[in-house]
Amino acid sequence: MMNIDNSYLYLTCGGYPKDNETWVFFTSVGEVEIKNANSLITRLLPLCNGNKQKREIIKRMEHYLEEGTDLDAFIADLFDMGILSDKFSVYKAWKSYGENPMIFFEEISSQQACRLIKKELPRDETIEKIKTNTPDFYMKGILNKRCSTREFAQEGVLKIEDIAGLFWSAYGVQEEREKIWRYGKEKTYTVPSGGGLYPLVLYLIELKDTQELTRGVYRWNGQALSFEKLKKQGCLDNLESMVTGIDSLEKATGIIVVAADYGRSAVKYSNKAYPLILLEAGHAMQNAYLYCAEKNIGFVELSGFEQKDLSDTLKLNKKLDPVVLGVFGVKKED
Ligand SMILES: Cc1cc2nc3c(=O)[nH]c(=O)nc-3n(C[C@H](O)[C@H](O)[C@H](O)COP(=O)(O)O)c2cc1C
Repeated sequence: MMNIDNSYLYLTCGGYPKDNETWVFFTSVGEVEIKNANSLITRLLPLCNGNKQKREIIKRMEHYLEEGTDLDAFIADLFDMGILSDKFSVYKAWKSYGENPMIFFEEISSQQACRLIKKELPRDETIEKIKTNTPDFYMKGILNKRCSTREFAQEGVLKIEDIAGLFWSAYGVQEEREKIWRYGKEKTYTVPSGGGLYPLVLYLIELKDTQELTRGVYRWNGQALSFEKLKKQGCLDNLESMVTGIDSLEKATGIIVVAADYGRSAVKYSNKAYPLILLEAGHAMQNAYLYCAEKNIGFVELSGFEQKDLSDTLKLNKKLDPVVLGVFGVKKED
């Protein structure tokens, strides 16, 4: 049983009293029914708002407990079932709702998708319309070229300089800037990060053998500007079966895996760590897209992949979770 004594209890999923005896909760692994604890649950849940520690909640509940009720053990069970969490690890629950395979996935037809895309977003009442012209600026040409590529050229493979540029753009340490903190200077990156905590780690899956990089998995070191080959190498042969949105990886040069240490952000941001990590991975990906637009490299961001299978197969660090992938290669000319 995990030690949750100092936890700030937080309800991580919805639920309702089905009848006088049973509560039903919708956890990320399915519905859970709890019997004969309705009045206990009804009193406990409003207290589990992330602001109160377990011991305070137990104290407040003391008067209501029936003889022989072990609230400590009951709370531990709710933790185990994924109904309660600590506010600093609530990201684990939310992450499990968003992981693949998606538990609430709806397959919609491309006709439905097109209808949805055409549908207007919610409108606001406005009083005036001011027309603008976008000025010419250096990035404009690159922003206009940004696109996703899912097919790559038959011939050719990207050189290490191109790949290094891609990784540096996505998550590199800036060359000149540094941030002055009260306790010293810290490095800064090509992307912003909540609290400057930089919780992302990028891996390169090199799919081809080149002079400098052989097929395998490397960890990107954004400070040393180096790719460091993992000691334990996983199997790269079945990656296609774990990835959706791209039919073949045969012609791709490689894949960026953006992985995260959610806990690092959670130390400061608790429940906000989950959206922060997704935002930060998005910043890295957008930089990668822009680099590829400038260099005419094919690139596509993919969130549809089996996180656990991929992580296990590649033997990625167990303390880091893959968030999003970017497949890249030599662009196929139209
Ligand atoms: C967060 C995110 C996740 C994405 N995941 C996938 C994916 O799993 N599979 C896929 O084929 N494309 C994926 N894409 C790419 C989008 O399909 C693509 O950006 C969109 O169709 C618009 O095309 P464009 O990038 O060429 O403008 C993703 C894009 C974003 C921003």
